[in-house]
Amino acid sequence: MRNQHHLIKDQSFLITGGASLVGSHIADELLAQGAKEVRLFDNFSLGTTSAIAHLLNNPRAPLIRGDVLRMNELIDAAKGVDGVFAMAGFLTIPMAKDPVLGVSVNTMGMVNTLEACRINGVRRIVFSSSVATYGNPIATPVEEAAPYRYEALQPPSLLYGASKLMGEALCAQYSKAYGLEFNVLRFSSVYGERQHARALNAVFVAQVCDKVRAGLAPVIGGDGSEVHDYVYVTDVAQACALAMTSYSHGHILNIATGIDTTHTAVAEIALKICGRTDLKPKYQADTRTVKPAAGSVLGFSREAAKNNIDWEPKVDIQSGITRLIEWQKKVSH
Ligand SMILES: NC(=O)c1ccc[n+]([C@@H]2O[C@H](COP(=O)([O-])OP(=O)(O)OC[C@H]3O[C@@H](n4cnc5c(N)ncnc54)[C@H](O)[C@@H]3O)[C@@H](O)[C@H]2O)c1
Repeated sequence: MRNQHHLIKDQSFLITGGASLVGSHIADELLAQGAKEVRLFDNFSLGTTSAIAHLLNNPRAPLIRGDVLRMNELIDAAKGVDGVFAMAGFLTIPMAKDPVLGVSVNTMGMVNTLEACRINGVRRIVFSSSVATYGNPIATPVEEAAPYRYEALQPPSLLYGASKLMGEALCAQYSKAYGLEFNVLRFSSVYGERQHARALNAVFVAQVCDKVRAGLAPVIGGDGSEVHDYVYVTDVAQACALAMTSYSHGHILNIATGIDTTHTAVAEIALKICGRTDLKPKYQADTRTVKPAAGSVLGFSREAAKNNIDWEPKVDIQSGITRLIEWQKKVSH
């Protein structure tokens, strides 16, 4: 591959937050590409073993119960690995519930993770940042240099975006001071198999699918014009693997489809997939206590990800929602 430098095959990796939605799919991707070992490091404060149930007996994917706030545990876990995927983190919903712990995990947890990389001579870190670092963006397309517009954000969203900016700055600092390679990936709204209820925007998709599967009309808070950029979790996992193996590093890259999808469109897609176009979305007042940075235009650019790590999404929203519904059917039985 043009932009591939290092290989995954026969290499060892550590995933912090290994029981996460994204982390579990990164593990699948790395194992499929022949990784020697993929260590799953998690304290299960948010995630459960259900996301990694299929890996629990795999000797190439050892589970390490550990806390990113305990540096000694991280130093031990990162011994001898070639790369670290830093996925442990508090999304906006858990951040709203416990902001002090959330800020600690997203910032001090990153300091500790980077320290563990430095001490163990790890080659590269891939950090899970977020498009929340733009707040409410105004420019279209939203390129990586766009500033953080946080004025209208609720505190949990502001803290979440700011804590991810801090993680990005820490990566740059460790690269400058110690030569640690990094790629920072700003994921948009990740959704898919093993979906959890911690991500504000993906929760909406999962709830709509649940309703429609139950033969009920999907419920939309507001007028349905709110848009998000829904990116499928296997595409995100592939982006993480590419960010680990690319020639190019030291980047901050949007991992987004570049396509804005309205809440109404999500509902219509789910209705069509389930053959229930007879049902119509029900609009009501938006009662969410935690609100996302949202508007009716986003337009995240994915050009830098294409140019630097050769990543493009493969799963469109119709196929993604189909796969999510299939997974929901399987787990609800
Ligand atoms: N899901 C999204 O839409 C999305 C979007 C942008 C960025 N991100 C970021 O990507 C990463 C992965 O997202 P996800 O949805 O897979 O997350 P997730 O909520 O599924 O998983 C986070 C994991 O981190 C673990 N964790 C929390 N505190 C820890 C600690 N102190 N020590 C060890 N583990 C700890 C949790 O138990 C959980 O398994 C997160 O950092 C998130 O902020 C996610």
